[in-house]
Amino acid sequence: MLKNKNIVLGVTGGIAAYKACDLVSRLVKAEANVDVIMTENATKFINPLTFQSLSSNQVIVDMFKEPKYWEIQHIALAKKADLVVVAPATANIIGKIANGIADDMLTTTVMATKAPVVFAPAMNCNMYENPILQSNIERLKALGYRFIEPGEGRLACGDVGIGKMAEPDVIESYINSMFERKKDFVGKTVIVTAGPTREAIDPVRYISNHSTGKMGYSIAYKAVDRGAKVYLISGPTSLKAPEGVQLIPVNSAREMHEKIMEHYDEADIVIMSAAVADYAPAITHQQKVKKSDEKLILELVKNPDILYELGKIKGDKILVGFAMETENLVENAKEKVSKKNLDFIVANDLFTEGAGFGTDTNVVKIIDKQGNVESLPKMAKLDLADLILDRIIKL
Ligand code: C5P
Repeated sequence: MLKNKNIVLGVTGGIAAYKACDLVSRLVKAEANVDVIMTENATKFINPLTFQSLSSNQVIVDMFKEPKYWEIQHIALAKKADLVVVAPATANIIGKIANGIADDMLTTTVMATKAPVVFAPAMNCNMYENPILQSNIERLKALGYRFIEPGEGRLACGDVGIGKMAEPDVIESYINSMFERKKDFVGKTVIVTAGPTREAIDPVRYISNHSTGKMGYSIAYKAVDRGAKVYLISGPTSLKAPEGVQLIPVNSAREMHEKIMEHYDEADIVIMSAAVADYAPAITHQQKVKKSDEKLILELVKNPDILYELGKIKGDKILVGFAMETENLVENAKEKVSKKNLDFIVANDLFTEGAGFGTDTNVVKIIDKQGNVESLPKMAKLDLADLILDRIIKL
């Protein structure tokens, strides 16, 4: 599983740095390519030569030191990484990353990478329990950074409590499981809708909403990753379609409805995360509407409620809806589940911090047709996408 994977291991200044030697040796044995980056403080505990010998790669501490082994070091390693692991992770590095500080090779690499980042914290129990550290951890978790929880026991400082870095074999199996892709959607066809719709007033103007499509694109990405054939029917967004999905760009709600119907028979699952406009102008003017009177009255007509229509011909397909509310979240969402004949709905409150349009996180409740309400903590949209797919598999 780890064969030929590029793992960047960040080692920071804690006594648990000695355990990182065993970790490197395990990863190398599993045929991963390991590049170690140490902070200056880490070198007070372990000589870089130890990691260099174990990994057979140059160890980087100083970003500016000659000779340089990478063209633009931090970017090169950040790009090359399939995974970045920081073990041991001190309160200091966690605090820096949570607050966007990039002042050495390790912090810069972590900030520049698009690969998943895993922290294995190690510190004194009082530091670990400090609310500042805990809120930094929460903040990073919400952005998709992962943490391997430390254990309890006698710490190097003599205190007894939580803060012992997870053992190298635990970290190794955690890393292994990250590369073990679930392929539980093989043979399934999924339609995902995403983004806003645009309802044209004239060739220049339209009615729309603030949806950016991030939630739907995250679901499409994860569904393909788990083996599904995915049609991503998307209103206008600035996002790049994930590799492997069949992108079907649309503008209006009616167009979205049409495109869904073209692929509906083939689909096993429909996930409607698009923010479909409920109304469209009764007339779309062929020419730009000129300003004349003080008032302009725009007549709107109702768009088809796509999900409601799909609910009427549901058969054995799985239908999942989204609901964004500004009040009475649960009651409104429950009503939609039954009215639209859904398996479940993912509901969020626009006014909750970390939820809603354009963010990388979401805070939702999942409400099923039996009326069960599952409240989820703030999480990265990509992690929520996986969780939604897990719930679908359960069905
Ligand atoms: O009724 P409401 O618009 O709040 O329901 C939201 C859910 O219904 C979303 O899943 C959305 O994609 C879908 N919807 C739809 N057609 C509409 C409006 C919303 O399919 N015209």
